[in-house]
Amino acid sequence: MYVRPVKRKARIAIFASGRGSNAQMIHSYSQNEDCHYEVVSILSNRKNAGVIDFARTEGIPSYTFHKEEFYSVSKVLEILKRERTDLIVLAGFLWLIPESLVHAYPKRILNIHPALLPKYGGKGMYGKYVHEAVKKNGDPVSGMTIHFVNEKYDEGQMIFQAQCQLNPGDEATDIARKVLRLEHHYYPRIVDGVSSRLS
Ligand code: GAR
Repeated sequence: MYVRPVKRKARIAIFASGRGSNAQMIHSYSQNEDCHYEVVSILSNRKNAGVIDFARTEGIPSYTFHKEEFYSVSKVLEILKRERTDLIVLAGFLWLIPESLVHAYPKRILNIHPALLPKYGGKGMYGKYVHEAVKKNGDPVSGMTIHFVNEKYDEGQMIFQAQCQLNPGDEATDIARKVLRLEHHYYPRIVDGVSSRLS
């Protein structure tokens, strides 16, 4: 009888700064038996972020850090090593990732951005600021981009994009809702695909 070899699941650390709806979707997707990853830690720069409450409720180890700790990196790297992290997933994490961390996890850090990069990327372009800019320009479409992280904001190699139609009457909040729906659907699936290809 042939027994398929069991490949272990990729161990994922989620970095998030806010409410963490993407973190929740990623974690919930990992409950599927066939999923190739498990969420082993949640890290945040904000002690009172919604994502930290979520981690506590779910019993996922969570860690917070301040700026100096993040940019001197050793604390964060120690946590990632201790948790035997294979892949880092940024889900609404707003700080630039330091070079040392990019080098420690080459092509192993993913980010999601709520626009069709290279449009509306870069420092200060996040969350509602992106959707307000899209509204101001009267774009007929928006969407989301998932990409690998390099040393610059939103410039790493693109993995996947999805787009949504906008109506002239859509407000920034409507655009945000349409884009978030795409994020929730695709991010867990892309994380799963990348996890399945990790060696
Ligand atoms: C998401 O829309 C994500 O694309 C965005 O923050 C939101 C986080 O929502 N990220 C950026 O703007 C990064 N530049 P969530 O906390 O509900 O997952």
